[in-house]
Amino acid sequence: MSMTDIKKGLAGVTVDYTAVSKVNPETNSLLYRGYPVQELAATQPFEAVAHLLWKGELPTDEELAALRAEERLHRALDPDVRTAIELVPLDAHPMDEVRTAVSLLGARDLAGTGSVLDAGGNPEENLARSIRLFAALPAIVAYGQRRRRGQDLVEPRDDLDYAANFLWMTFGEEPDDIVVDAFNRSMILYAEHSFNASTFTARVVTSTLSDLYSAVVAAIGALKGPLHGGANEAVLHIFNEIGDASNVGPWLDEALASKRKVMGFGHRVYKRGDSRVPTMKAALDTLIEHYGRPDVAALYDALESEFVSRKGIYPNLDFPSGPAYNLIGFDTLTFTPVFIAARVTGWTAHILEQAASNALIRPLSEYNGPKERHVEGYVADA
Ligand code: CMC
Repeated sequence: MSMTDIKKGLAGVTVDYTAVSKVNPETNSLLYRGYPVQELAATQPFEAVAHLLWKGELPTDEELAALRAEERLHRALDPDVRTAIELVPLDAHPMDEVRTAVSLLGARDLAGTGSVLDAGGNPEENLARSIRLFAALPAIVAYGQRRRRGQDLVEPRDDLDYAANFLWMTFGEEPDDIVVDAFNRSMILYAEHSFNASTFTARVVTSTLSDLYSAVVAAIGALKGPLHGGANEAVLHIFNEIGDASNVGPWLDEALASKRKVMGFGHRVYKRGDSRVPTMKAALDTLIEHYGRPDVAALYDALESEFVSRKGIYPNLDFPSGPAYNLIGFDTLTFTPVFIAARVTGWTAHILEQAASNALIRPLSEYNGPKERHVEGYVADA
């Protein structure tokens, strides 16, 4: 038996420095480039937070205007990307659709680079690619939901900022300010969270000097899983299964007896509550009030208090964001694609950081397979 100390799931392992964000489970705080996330969510448009993550500082008025102008230039769904989306079966998971669209955008952008040695790009090119992806994703996500509902593409509106335009392209209606504000807050809360599984995936891919799009496509694959981004979708399935606050007790009896994980609870880093939850819960409360849905509040509160008192495990961001996205009108299957549109800012900030001080990420493993053995009949060359 080896004495190697295996860190299964890399739990508790610090792999590198980052200046993008700081998670402090002791004080239950999350800072983006030094700013508490709840302060950013309360005061900033998502575009300003994207600028902060990429460049390290909140934008001046001129910088914000420039980023917004650039974002508007790349909002419309590219016709070839639309064709690619339409090749994805309607009953495929929308995460596969977004992954495919980003993959095509990357292949086209990198066409002509000739060699893998040219594909990685320089920091300026990669920042420009990050902004284009950030701008292009809402149309991809919005059109995906619309085509599954048998609805036509809605063209972007130049008079709307990022969050309002995202909702416009999804629903084809001018969104209410309360809804835009709650959605904007959710995008900021989802934007970044240090070395989570998808961000780490993006950094691993970048560490081989591969290109930004390959890193984002790989990150989308990691985010799809229900232990990570897929949890916001899974939370809504649970809400639908339970149906009414009065069913929480019996539902939990059965779920816990069958050792089922209750999605939207627990976190690898936070053990006493996810720092993003109070801000998202407040945004959910505004939506509950706006849509007149006290039943959602009752189910939320009942499941939270019952699960926390039985297991001592607290909700994570996906617990309030799942019902919030449902109230806004997103289909359950669209929740994790919306998460992509937010997290692409954090992923690309980490890709830029990894590329700027790269070391190939290549851990070790402890072998526990069969002892050395030999192929029958093999004779070594003389
Ligand atoms: N429901 C039931 N039991 C749970 C849950 C849960 N949601 N979370 C943790 N536990 C139990 C788990 O069964 C285990 O019990 P035991 O020691 O008796 O086997 C113990 O708590 C430790 O759990 P773990 O899964 O080994 O711990 P981890 O640090 O690997 O877990 C987690 C982190 C997020 C994978 C886990 O809490 C989980 O599966 N939660 C549900 C999925 C979810 O909501 N994911 C979103 C995470 S936050 C957003 C994001 O990053 O995308």
